[in-house]
Amino acid sequence: MHQKILILDFGSQVTQLIARRVREAHVFCEVHPCDVSDEWIRNYAADGQLKGVILSGSHASVYEEATDKAPQSVFELGIPVLGICYGMQTMAQQLGGKVEAGHTREFGFAQIRAHGHTELLNGIQDAVNDDGHGLLDVWMSHGDKVTELPPGFTLMASNAACPIAGMADESRKFYAVQFHPEVTHTVQGQAMLERFVLGICGTRADWIMGDYIAEAVERIRAQVGDEEVILGLSGGVDSSVAAALIHRAIGDQLTCVFVDHGLLRLNEGDMVMEMFVDKLHAKVIRVDASAQFLGHLAGVTEPEAKRKIIGREFVEVFKAEAAKLKASGASKKGAKWLAQGTIYPDVIESGGAKSKKAVTIKSHHNVGGLPEQLGLKLLEPLRELFKDEVRELGVALGLPANMVYRHPFPGPGLGVRILGEVKKEYADLLRRADAIFIEELRNAPYAGGNTLGSNPRLAPKTWYDAVSQAFTVFLPVKSVGVMGDGRTYDYVVALRAVQTSDFMTADWAELPYSLLKTVSGRIINEVRGINRVTYDVSSKPPATIEWE
Ligand code: XMP
Repeated sequence: MHQKILILDFGSQVTQLIARRVREAHVFCEVHPCDVSDEWIRNYAADGQLKGVILSGSHASVYEEATDKAPQSVFELGIPVLGICYGMQTMAQQLGGKVEAGHTREFGFAQIRAHGHTELLNGIQDAVNDDGHGLLDVWMSHGDKVTELPPGFTLMASNAACPIAGMADESRKFYAVQFHPEVTHTVQGQAMLERFVLGICGTRADWIMGDYIAEAVERIRAQVGDEEVILGLSGGVDSSVAAALIHRAIGDQLTCVFVDHGLLRLNEGDMVMEMFVDKLHAKVIRVDASAQFLGHLAGVTEPEAKRKIIGREFVEVFKAEAAKLKASGASKKGAKWLAQGTIYPDVIESGGAKSKKAVTIKSHHNVGGLPEQLGLKLLEPLRELFKDEVRELGVALGLPANMVYRHPFPGPGLGVRILGEVKKEYADLLRRADAIFIEELRNAPYAGGNTLGSNPRLAPKTWYDAVSQAFTVFLPVKSVGVMGDGRTYDYVVALRAVQTSDFMTADWAELPYSLLKTVSGRIINEVRGINRVTYDVSSKPPATIEWE
């Protein structure tokens, strides 16, 4: 069993980052809403594995009205507590200090001075001032601030704008900082969080993906026994890693159903089959349902209607395959389980969930509602993993890195990248143009420094890795061109490449002109039927990443 850290979420947009940083220190942690009850806290700590609690920041826009408090029992468990930003303020208030509303927001980089040689900051610094005090470059984002220390606390950090930027009661191991150690702008942030979870809380650093496989395999075997499992393989990272993990655990008790809706990328279906059947020797049923999907999509132009049709047909095909499987006897007793690639961010309930609603489960666009309809139990072996961890696990399970680190691809596939009515002719043109774009991105060396790319942990070596998502969009309009001696009247495509850390906002990527030139030259020359290529220079918001 893993020792654990509890992160109470007050609704900050960066709460998940705290959890990711703790996991990067190889410590297991979970995020729960700040308004869990005292009883819940005591139950959570009852097995003795809870080693520390972190109180997150709050959402910037609700700052002034934020009145959430931590359950008082957090301060009575006898274990270390770290308050971050709003978490510091609520700690101060709840333990007898004072917080005052700020009239201005402090936002951005700040330099603070460490005080008192606390265990949290001891030896952690970016610079030293003339008087020998440690200085730290940190990221601030707050309006209110602590103006009076609670009894028992001493000053841990300060600067002119924020005289109490950190406080500590070392006898109780309570620490709090006004800045955000979880964001990379706080240079020593990871060191501070590691000091807290490993040093102060003394948590075991045993959360390691390579070792996790054995643990997850045991758990799946115990859960499933000798029953059979079916899984809808989409070719995406999550369902692929889930399939590889479950296959490792129960081998032929797993049957994957891979529905080809005719809206996949070039050669994607063959690649999925090669990976799972030829390399992993998993049982995969490939269903070519493209005619069915395209048939239902004929004449439909409205984006939401298109999405609904694709989702609905997926469920139909999957249900039919599950029924066939049962009837054919290929599956001895009929599957009892439906596996899904739900991951932790889909499960985390957001802060201040007043309703105490049950943990939300992603209604996957593909298989939403399916477990009930099919009368199957749900198997979700990735439920506690972040995306980075799912990728690490995938590589550890032997999936190719270039598949595991692929950009996200929407469930409705090319259906939302062909504007208006979807036709096979359009999908075929788009597939070829998109394959050229992606190939050139993978071939283009990236010389830049920091990036918000899809895999910030790996220094990107190519433009493919330096952007978070890139794809081609088919525009069903024709424009005039000239090729050789002749006039052409052909279709237009748009290239889209964005950089983002969370896909909620995104910047269009400043791809080099030379790269765009190579891509457009190749598409126009190699894909007969397309004679014009444009580059999408819209950021999100106001544009979305996908065009539909
Ligand atoms: P937007 O277009 O909303 O996209 O800015 C944000 C991210 O979500 C992906 N996306 C989807 N993923 N099913 C999915 O699995 C969908 O229906 C869907 N629609 C958008 C999109 O590719 C981007 O990464």
